[in-house]
Amino acid sequence: IFKDERALAKTLAVQIAASLGGRPDIVLGLPTGRTPIRLYHELGMLYAHKQADFSNATTFNVDEFLGIEPTHPGSYRAFMEDHLFSRVNLNPERIHVPNGVAPDPDAECARYEAEIAEAGGIELQLLGIGTNGHIGFNEPARELVARTHRVQLKASTRRSNATLFGGDLDKVPTEALSMGMGTILKARRIVLIATGKSKAKCVERAVNGPITPRMPASFLQLHRDVELMLDEAAAAALNPQQLA
Ligand code: GLP
Repeated sequence: IFKDERALAKTLAVQIAASLGGRPDIVLGLPTGRTPIRLYHELGMLYAHKQADFSNATTFNVDEFLGIEPTHPGSYRAFMEDHLFSRVNLNPERIHVPNGVAPDPDAECARYEAEIAEAGGIELQLLGIGTNGHIGFNEPARELVARTHRVQLKASTRRSNATLFGGDLDKVPTEALSMGMGTILKARRIVLIATGKSKAKCVERAVNGPITPRMPASFLQLHRDVELMLDEAAAAALNPQQLA
């Protein structure tokens, strides 16, 4: 638990730079959203100061909107270009984001899974969390799909993504492609980051609640190497004894 978002981002950026140092060909899983922005900027700064080298790393983003060109400013691909890819020395050939305009979305999902497998699987998966407990675009549901798949977005998720579309909810796609919880749980190490008081409740349920598809983040309880990095506001609903 960190005092604030800045301290969290700095610490995690240094850890990632160290992982890159120890394993230059690391395979990283990456989220979008407000939460990782500072982290990505910190990584850009470390690269600028020659303290992080991404030249041999591979990345796989967790999700992308369906029907949105990668060049569209609202796409997750564009978000990543803006906040990370343009700031570090990743080889464009080793950057992977699901293609939201692939002619056959199901085939695109299968292709994405195959690419992850071909890269040797994800070593370090970074994650954010939605206020309803979604991970990537794995929305609360009666059942979850294990592998990369096409998803119908919840109204609340579309609302929280509206800023990417100039605040116009009607412009937010209704569907997306997302790694499944099974894809995510296959990563060797997972770090979930959450900041701000709006995340306190879902963080508490993900940690202490039952494992249920109604709270996709609760599935992380099944993973053997998962770490939560929180600011004080996002940790506020956790029992102080748990934090000791
Ligand atoms: C979005 C993304 C997720 C992200 C989450 C939280 O809809 N699909 O990958 O982790 O919601 O976003 P934020 O960090 O902006 O709260």
